[in-house]
Amino acid sequence: MSGPNTEFDPKQVAALDAQAIESMVAEALAGIAEASNLDELKAAKTAYAGDRSPLALANREIGALPPAAKADAGKRVGQARAQVKKALEDREQILIAERDAQVLQAEAVDVTLPVQRNPIGGRHPLTTLMERMADVFISMGYDIAEGPEAEAEWANFDALNVPPDHPARTMQDTFYVESPDSGVVLRTQTSPIQIRAMLERELPIYVVAPGRVYRTDELDATHTPVFHQIEGLAVDEGLTMADLKGTLDHLATQMFGEGIVTRLRPSYFPFTEPSAEVDLECFVCRGASVGDPNNPCRTCGSEGWIEWGGCGMVNPRVLTAVGIDNQKYRGFAFGMGIERTLMFRNGVTDMRDMVEGDIRFTRAFGVDA
Ligand code: DAH
Repeated sequence: MSGPNTEFDPKQVAALDAQAIESMVAEALAGIAEASNLDELKAAKTAYAGDRSPLALANREIGALPPAAKADAGKRVGQARAQVKKALEDREQILIAERDAQVLQAEAVDVTLPVQRNPIGGRHPLTTLMERMADVFISMGYDIAEGPEAEAEWANFDALNVPPDHPARTMQDTFYVESPDSGVVLRTQTSPIQIRAMLERELPIYVVAPGRVYRTDELDATHTPVFHQIEGLAVDEGLTMADLKGTLDHLATQMFGEGIVTRLRPSYFPFTEPSAEVDLECFVCRGASVGDPNNPCRTCGSEGWIEWGGCGMVNPRVLTAVGIDNQKYRGFAFGMGIERTLMFRNGVTDMRDMVEGDIRFTRAFGVDA
């Protein structure tokens, strides 16, 4: 016979009877089933399967049972704990699947949706080229100068030493605002900005002036009644034609790349003396087409050179017209067409493409900030 079981405690043993265990399991299963997300399930796991859960506490009581009752109780508690563990695992599977489905739905990307149909615009290549040309001068310390597009005839012609009977003044070339007597024209060149700069600024003067100009030309592949020029003007002591040439060469290199060759060809402009045309060596044939009928060049018309703009030393009469001492100061000036520059530089063959505003033309130059 075994002796009395001093550790025997009827109350604790009551916690291990079949009914008590069953109700612990029932409570656990209900709680687990109620967990509606993984966080709640974690809390349920602690409550029903954690170290301090009723079943874990019951498990600890087994040792206190009389040996005959131990096996039975152990089996009961073991099965109950296994059941709860299984329920937790099953519920976890379900909740994980639910969570994944939710994430997939919330983060779904519909690859069949139409793309952005409103294309973003690009800046016009004339605008960006004009800015690039101006930037070459800004980096040399020049200022940007401006003037109005509806300009005083005096600034556009008289002060630039254009004689009153010069053919350029006639209504065939110049758009007059109101009538030819109004004294106001749509500027035919950016050169009147030279006059304004010299009237308004302190000496020495180093300015560039990009801008829109107007002439009564029909729109065709090489003409447009509204086009753009960039004007340059330097007035200082001791300037020479070498300064002008060096400045133009620098601009040409910046625009067309290292190795571009320029030449100054004697010419005439009323506001410069001496005057010259700035030519670029044809970068297609490099002069090879000259005098070779078997090898014509379309870019330069087999001339070997392309006319880029006009330039010269500011005519002393112009300095006088704006009150600058022409003994002390000398100036150089130049002006070239932006459209022409874009044609040479980017191989645009028809000026109409530049004015039609077709986004397909602009976009080919890239979206420039
Ligand atoms: N204004 C002239 C034109 O439109 C171009 C020009 C020639 C500008 C000589 C100048 C210059 O500044 O010095 O044809």
